[in-house]
Amino acid sequence: MNPPATVYPVKSAFAAETRITRDEYQRLYAQSLQQPDAFWGKVAERLDWMKAPTRIKDTSFELKDFRIRWFDDGELNASVNCLDRHLETRGDKTALIFEPDSPDAPAQRISYRELHERVCKLANALRALGVGKGDRVTIYLPMIPEAAIAMLACARIGAVHMVVFGGFAANSIADRVSDSGSKLIITADEGLRAGRKVALKANVDAALKLPGTNSVETVLVVRHTRAAVDMQMPRDRWYDAVVDDQPVQCEPERMNAEDPLFILYTSGSTGKPKGVLHTTGGYLVYVSYTHEAVFDLREDDVYWCTADVGWVTGHSYIVYGPLANGATALVFEGVPTWPDASRFWQVIDKHRVTIFYTAPTAIRALMREGEGPVQATSRKSLRLLGTVGEPINPEAWRWYYEVVGDSRCPIVDTWWQTENGGILISALPGATDLKPGSATLPFFGVQPAIVDTHGKRIEGEGEGNLVILDSWPGQMRTVYGDHQRFIDTYFRTYPGTYFTGDGCRRDADGYYWITGRVDDVINVSGHRIGTAEVESALVSHDKVAEAAVVGFPHDIKGQGIYAYVTLIAGEQPSEALRAELVKHVRAEIGPIAAPDHLQWAPGLPKTRSGKIMRRILRKIAEAGSSELAPDQLGDTSTLADPSVVDSLVQERRVP
Ligand code: WTA
Repeated sequence: MNPPATVYPVKSAFAAETRITRDEYQRLYAQSLQQPDAFWGKVAERLDWMKAPTRIKDTSFELKDFRIRWFDDGELNASVNCLDRHLETRGDKTALIFEPDSPDAPAQRISYRELHERVCKLANALRALGVGKGDRVTIYLPMIPEAAIAMLACARIGAVHMVVFGGFAANSIADRVSDSGSKLIITADEGLRAGRKVALKANVDAALKLPGTNSVETVLVVRHTRAAVDMQMPRDRWYDAVVDDQPVQCEPERMNAEDPLFILYTSGSTGKPKGVLHTTGGYLVYVSYTHEAVFDLREDDVYWCTADVGWVTGHSYIVYGPLANGATALVFEGVPTWPDASRFWQVIDKHRVTIFYTAPTAIRALMREGEGPVQATSRKSLRLLGTVGEPINPEAWRWYYEVVGDSRCPIVDTWWQTENGGILISALPGATDLKPGSATLPFFGVQPAIVDTHGKRIEGEGEGNLVILDSWPGQMRTVYGDHQRFIDTYFRTYPGTYFTGDGCRRDADGYYWITGRVDDVINVSGHRIGTAEVESALVSHDKVAEAAVVGFPHDIKGQGIYAYVTLIAGEQPSEALRAELVKHVRAEIGPIAAPDHLQWAPGLPKTRSGKIMRRILRKIAEAGSSELAPDQLGDTSTLADPSVVDSLVQERRVP
């Protein structure tokens, strides 16, 4: 049994002024389940619709009757909701604060009026280049204002954006461009991170040499570092050259609520990353409402989410949620530990940030540097803290709460997934008592349940697999180009429910504690990596016969990547080859997928039918340098050759 957790009651300052009190949370939560049409119909009024929806929820997770449709006779444009409707009352308000990689470079403030103009100009340029409703556009940019501008410009003309994280390598770009059939790519000459240059344009060039990418007609290149890059005419065009002379008004496309807004690729248990498709109406209603409620948003807040726009957190809680709400959002190009471990806190002081939303991995990395770099700053402006991306260990939670927030600021631990569009489980700061390490309670309309491996519902206290019983507006609608994969991945394991892939415990107070992935996905620093992807990158090296990849606990990253590699006959293991293989994975997928440990495996533990028993490999990787008694490995009697395990245990790498 887990010991009772310390409870941090709702702060009186929040209880007094919050948008949603404890009683309101309970009342509204009950209403959201009992009368979803009335509840979400009302919430949807927060957006500007070109045609208001009369149909609200039309969903079923039953396979014979499967459908997910929200607001499906409504019409709207996402960019109008993020820009135009604020012009009258908030035209001069800062929409985006841009804080560059280097603290010596000037910050920029972009008002709603200016952002509207810049989005319209790019939208006009895209139309002039032949991009229209339904066309896919790849965005491969650093964390600069153009990233948000590019997303909103696509939304304005009904093009479907597909953002690729700037840390992915050429192969990963090519896979995504090819699967989505993108017509145009928006990139930059180079990115900057901690003073180092990232060769974005060169990566795009390499990607476009790979098969399957000839749908791309145009590459727009933002001049960021102004480095000299190869421009291949007529394909490559400078962004400023095509945008500067465009008109500052652009007629928005009327979009149906169920028209696609974007595709974002994410890793799963098997195969290549899936193109998660989100639509316009439900997504925007959900991210705007969750952003306001979970962060208890006020008009004068300065809100900073440190995610990259390459991930869903950046889509929902840097761009669409905050801008739909007319908030001021900070866009940060840099990293938390450069030039030193004070950077986050200095940026908070510099821009008087009031709401700060980051990942547990960043907190753990900064915690290691001690309290000094935090204490050197004031952080007086802060009123609310948040986390996302992975479970937060209670020690890191307490450090965040006591040291960063001076025990003044509540922490909202927000659980959700790329597939979810927005936050599903989280405290509301004026309504929910906090427990370090728990994402606490479900958001309106969200019905979590816990099932055992046979799908039997666990009521009350207990632990098992987390499923969601009914749809919420921000839910993904399909896997791009493969609807069957969507159904098979999420709705077949526990029929009638959406399976999250996460393990979860519910305590006596009904609080949810996410325990991590129960499938073959590794969560490295809050980023999802499929073991199958890393394995296929390893076996694509000509000296590798076979590979198996598992996660292991990592102090900073949450989970690290542990690879077991069998070389082809005649090849000898060496340190040089080990380094070469790690480099190979970096080049194939990107630095985030590089194995932390690579162990030579003369053989892999397999069942007689040839299936690799990852459970055993996981145990060996998890044990690290500690003793590993044979009985800790569980049942090995079904192995074809149990002696492989002994040699793996003996040879294990000590993380
Ligand atoms: C994990 C990120 C515990 C979880 C928004 C989920 C979390 C995966 C939390 C989704 C949290 C995210 N507590 N675990 N607060 N937030 N996760 O798609 O395993 O990049 O399934 O979306 O991250 O990662 P994704």
